[in-house]
Amino acid sequence: MTDFSSHRPDWWRQAVVYQVYPRSFADADGDGLGDLRGVTDRLSHLAGLGVDALWLSPFYPSELADGGYDVADHRDVDPRLGSLADFDALAAEAHRLGLKVIVDLVPNHTSHQHLWFQEALAAGPGSPARERYVFRDGRGPSGELPPTDWQSVFGGSAWQRVPDGQWYLHLFAREQPDLNWDHEEVREDFRTTLRFWSDRGVDGFRVDVAHALAKDLTEPLRDLGSPELVGEDVLAHLPPGTHPFYDRDEVHEIYRDWRRVLDSYTPPRTAVAEAWVPGARRALYARPEELNQAFNFDYLQASWDAEEIRTVVTDSLATARAVGASATWVLSNHDVLRHASRLMLPPGTDENAWLLSNGHAPSVDEAAGLRRARAATLLMLALPGSSYVYQGEELGLPEVAELPVEVLQDPLWEQTGRVRKGRDGCRVPLPWTTTGPSYGFGAAGAWLPQPPYFARYAVEAQEGVQGSTLELYRTALRLRRKLLDGEELGWLRDDTPPGVLAFARHDGWRCVTNLSDVPVPLPPGEVLLTSVPLDGDGRLGPDTTVWLA
Ligand code: GLC
Repeated sequence: MTDFSSHRPDWWRQAVVYQVYPRSFADADGDGLGDLRGVTDRLSHLAGLGVDALWLSPFYPSELADGGYDVADHRDVDPRLGSLADFDALAAEAHRLGLKVIVDLVPNHTSHQHLWFQEALAAGPGSPARERYVFRDGRGPSGELPPTDWQSVFGGSAWQRVPDGQWYLHLFAREQPDLNWDHEEVREDFRTTLRFWSDRGVDGFRVDVAHALAKDLTEPLRDLGSPELVGEDVLAHLPPGTHPFYDRDEVHEIYRDWRRVLDSYTPPRTAVAEAWVPGARRALYARPEELNQAFNFDYLQASWDAEEIRTVVTDSLATARAVGASATWVLSNHDVLRHASRLMLPPGTDENAWLLSNGHAPSVDEAAGLRRARAATLLMLALPGSSYVYQGEELGLPEVAELPVEVLQDPLWEQTGRVRKGRDGCRVPLPWTTTGPSYGFGAAGAWLPQPPYFARYAVEAQEGVQGSTLELYRTALRLRRKLLDGEELGWLRDDTPPGVLAFARHDGWRCVTNLSDVPVPLPPGEVLLTSVPLDGDGRLGPDTTVWLA
């Protein structure tokens, strides 16, 4: 058996990484916001689950204009979330429990509260301080029009005017000015940040919007000509590498530079790119001389359809293998609808319209969603490569689609002129206990309201309960650890009915998922684990995964 233990320098190749969204995980100091001590106190939950690592979404000083992805200081802890000493205690406890620690790095932009941006505002047009960002004069007779037609991912122009008349670029919220990666000081500062956290013992980095750092800032800046296409949608309409700010070839120089820093540590620090770009281009970020891994969102975006998933898995394995990386799999994170709900929406559903209907149009059968989510998870955990699990999915939490608009915090809501409801529904604080204020999240309540049905999903309600989603994850992760060997996968096509996915790993380990709506014969072999109990009639029901030996 191959040793995939945490002692190997390439421990990440088949690791299961648990994403902690710190504000919503556990609140130790009772101020209503999750914090680092809350995470440390609950690390036994992660160790008991059997994951290999935790990834902490940003906990840096931030006014939370974008949930902490607006960073005012990349090398400190937000006082509301704790201190550097609290971070050190967290990392030490995680390591004691055998868990690796990955932190989020947000290099594309800073908060507008960052010292550099404040300096840039004060220093005025043409100053060296403005060079660290992307400031330009506007168009029109008095510069009253934005420099280009570039659109923010969060809606509206990607340019914001400042009182002296210049404009600055922000691909995300107004409070997130984009950095100028052509500037050596910016590059050097991020090397310092990589060293800062690596010196504190972190094992890896998740790189936010990794594909947007390099920009074509040669004058005159060019219009995209298709302002209706925002975000990554525009990539599909341009030849690879030619977009002015997404997925440019020069971005890879930055990661080759980082790799030299990461490799100067023993063991080398790893990294995973968040790059919403198509498969083969995305894999480039995962090259061994760059970051090692790139999130693969194709599985997340696939419909619940056997042929579609087979294609996604085959292509993902091939593109990762082509560059010597291992594949990655994700079903949920802090930016998307939780998969227990999402997988029930008919293909083509307008997710925002569904959120605006408070989850009523179409309505989602909660039990059926959970059943499907569990099947999708067991399928994912049997795939070669590493899986990223989002806090609360081990409880089977659905999306809280019914959040009243008055409580929304996501900048998407305001910046789209109250059109897009945003991502708060997957960020509702976790339920730990079945009763009590905020279901054990913290003494002061939760910063987003938890629905009453959260009690049923609480850790306390599932711990030690046979058949619970929590126990399913625990069993699956324990078993996976034992079964894991090479990174091969072979599809089993013979005798596999339509709508069924079946593949073999090694030593007889097979995974079979019935994505159709009729029961199918259970393949022969020893049943190791099933996503829901089998009926005992020798058949595998709809929306069910079985691991066999
Ligand atoms: C990434 C983060 C997302 C954030 C954005 C801007 O996509 O995952 O939450 O809003 O970057 O930093």
